[in-house]
Amino acid sequence: MGRQGQVAWELRRTLSVLGEVHALGRESLDPDDPSAWGRAVRELRPDMVVNAVAYTAVDLAETEPERAQRANAELPGEVSRAASQVGARMIHYSTDYVFDGTGTVPYREEDRTNPLGVYGRTKLLGEEAVLADDRHCVIRLCWVYGTRGRNFLLTVRRLAGEGKPLRIVSDQRGCPTWSRDIAEATGQAARQLLVARDAEGGLFHLASGGQTTWHGFASEILSLMESPSQAEAISTVEYPTPARRPAYSVLANDKFAARFGVRVPDWRGQVALALEG
Ligand SMILES: NC(=O)c1ccc[n+]([C@@H]2O[C@H](COP(=O)([O-])OP(=O)(O)OC[C@H]3O[C@@H](n4cnc5c(N)ncnc54)[C@H](OP(=O)(O)O)[C@@H]3O)[C@@H](O)[C@H]2O)c1
Repeated sequence: MGRQGQVAWELRRTLSVLGEVHALGRESLDPDDPSAWGRAVRELRPDMVVNAVAYTAVDLAETEPERAQRANAELPGEVSRAASQVGARMIHYSTDYVFDGTGTVPYREEDRTNPLGVYGRTKLLGEEAVLADDRHCVIRLCWVYGTRGRNFLLTVRRLAGEGKPLRIVSDQRGCPTWSRDIAEATGQAARQLLVARDAEGGLFHLASGGQTTWHGFASEILSLMESPSQAEAISTVEYPTPARRPAYSVLANDKFAARFGVRVPDWRGQVALALEG
């Protein structure tokens, strides 16, 4: 599910070695009509559904809660039920925004959720809908970037290229995670879930190793670009946004690594690789 999103596009490349891939995007299905996505699954009868579709405009969600609800909660529910009906397994993505960010050590899957805004609340409802079938999987991600779409890495690269000033928040921590690594790890998980057809699914966290701040991430990008620009560190209160962000978003990877034998390396090396591509 999804065609042009950061993760969806990488999945189209990565999953193609496992079998025929049907990538359904907004050009053929309307995210405001969740039942249409369920119908598509019942018609296609796949072995596996990977859902990378979401209403990801975190700030806009505060003023469009019904649209966020449809895409983030109802659509995964429809798809999950349809997948179960045709005997397919499902992998669905969720987010660090289900947490309030008051943690100080990497969040584990069983930690208490407490979303701060519409996006996180609707994504949490989507998780619950998918996990109603214990053969399905939900993978929580954080700070996704890539070389396509709209994301922090591309914005910093563009602003630095234009010689624009960069004022970046330095009091939010997370793990920048490359969309390609997410797709590769998902491919490994999907293959194992298809082989062990009746094995349980569950809730998993997936992120690059290590952690940094947005300012640390920007500084690394500028250094790798050999840019003369410098990022000025500012605080969250100096950069007000309609939706509150969790101050601490670091996700612990141990459960995913133990189950699927895959661990995404430290974020710095992966950013360097992404920028080389
Ligand atoms: N980006 C992050 O930092 C981040 C962090 C944590 C979790 N996640 C989760 O990871 C998954 C993939 O996210 P992503 O970063 O690949 O997102 P993205 O680049 O914004 O792509 C969004 C995907 O959802 C589809 N979509 C459906 N309705 C939409 C709407 N109203 N507005 C925008 N897009 C809509 C798009 O369809 P088309 O393909 O037709 O364009 C696209 O495939 C999502 O479940 C998201 O919640 C993302």
